[in-house]
Amino acid sequence: MSGDCDFGLIGLAVMGENLALNVESRGYKVAVYNRTTEKVDDLINGRAAGKDFVGTHSIEDFVKAVRRPRKLMMLVKAGPAVDAIIEQLLPHCDPGDIIIDGGNEYYLNTERRVKQVEEAGMLYVGCGVSGGEEGALKGPSLMPGGSKEAWPHIKDLLQSIAAKVGPNNDIPCCEWLGNGGAGNYVKMVHNGIEYGDMQLICEAYQLLHELGGLDNDDLYEVFEKWNQGDLQSYLIEITRDIFSVKDDQGGDGYLVDKILDVAGAKGTGKWMSQLALDLGVPSTLVTTAVFARGLSAQKEARVRASEKLNGPASGSNQEMTAIVKQLIGNREAFVEAVKQALYASKIVSYAQGFVQLQAASEEHDWGLNYGNCALLWRGGCIIRAQFLDRIKEAFDADPNLENLLLNSFFENAVEDAQESWRAVVAAASIMGIPVPAFSTALNYYDGYRMARLPANLLQAQRDYFGAHTYQRVDKEGAFHSEWLQLRKEPAHS
Ligand code: 6PG
Repeated sequence: MSGDCDFGLIGLAVMGENLALNVESRGYKVAVYNRTTEKVDDLINGRAAGKDFVGTHSIEDFVKAVRRPRKLMMLVKAGPAVDAIIEQLLPHCDPGDIIIDGGNEYYLNTERRVKQVEEAGMLYVGCGVSGGEEGALKGPSLMPGGSKEAWPHIKDLLQSIAAKVGPNNDIPCCEWLGNGGAGNYVKMVHNGIEYGDMQLICEAYQLLHELGGLDNDDLYEVFEKWNQGDLQSYLIEITRDIFSVKDDQGGDGYLVDKILDVAGAKGTGKWMSQLALDLGVPSTLVTTAVFARGLSAQKEARVRASEKLNGPASGSNQEMTAIVKQLIGNREAFVEAVKQALYASKIVSYAQGFVQLQAASEEHDWGLNYGNCALLWRGGCIIRAQFLDRIKEAFDADPNLENLLLNSFFENAVEDAQESWRAVVAAASIMGIPVPAFSTALNYYDGYRMARLPANLLQAQRDYFGAHTYQRVDKEGAFHSEWLQLRKEPAHS
């Protein structure tokens, strides 16, 4: 038996409720279910009153309310809760029904569930959803992957609720990404890039504030200006807004100054770093950003250390001080230099994200379309930015582009920015201000553009102590040397 709803949504927390309202607003009839059934009634009698909704109080009624092939979406906490709901759904589903998970799920869980659900005769989709509460309601970025057969059935609905971009605002930020866990993987990389972007912005903030002496009003103006140019993005925009917000809890001054400097994290950045290590690709921006959050969380230890450990003694090195003075002497020029450092680092961060996507796509045979990934992130999501148009163009021009840094637009952008970028990292280091993301980006750039790195010495060390062998620059094959016998006898032995 099936009902006349076009779509079903389980999990009425903030994201689920808003997404359900979004779907209904596009002309679809929506069935909803939540384990705590009061939430169903609250929605039906509240924001959904008078709208085309069916509230249900059991999984069975929920499934029955939807027309076949059913499109049933879960927006619940990733992990075991998703497995539990799948177990409850499957006995009531019919062959060809589609179960969609909209959570930030670990991609291997989705790979496993695709197999499990397909074996039971149904279809399964892991769909990354980005954009927070407002995105869910008005148009998120959607990153679906899983059972390919499901796509023709869900395409129109998902594309209708997604954010739209392009000159006519009609290109949906939702495209099929690939089988298995491809959608969740792309969403995870989105989040990892989000970590990098946020950390870079925070470093710019600390530099401008501590080295440049800018206050919150000044910072508001700077971010407002940055948001008009190459850096235009949602994260720059909300950062600008944050600098304008006064304490709303009874204190004086700005709210941002009252917030404890301890960063939270739900884990997607850590997954991306772990998977980068597994793949052997240097995604150093996200990893640095994850560690920076970790260091921030060691608040008490940092406070203790701050009372013992010294930074650079001021005026100890006249020449070094001159570099800093020159950089920060003119406020406008300093702000511009920080902007350039941020822009170049951001380019490196995205370049690394796409390199990881390429490596993962190859490993899992997903056949990811990187131009599409850039398009999906162009609107609706947290990392949405004008600059993603350039990334899409780069991959459209060369779908196999090895690294974004090799595309002429980005190559030139980094070239233009690099003098300032180097000066900012040098000045921060001289002054003892941590800029882990700015500097790891610069180190990646410098390492990537080196035809020869010191790994020759590293290979020699490995062969010396462990006979791990090495390759030569002039002959094919694996070589081993008896370093102990060949070495110069040390004078003191
Ligand atoms: C999004 C966000 C969303 C969430 C992050 C926050 O795309 O809408 O990325 O998924 O806000 O998970 O992650 P952290 O709590 O780890 O910062």
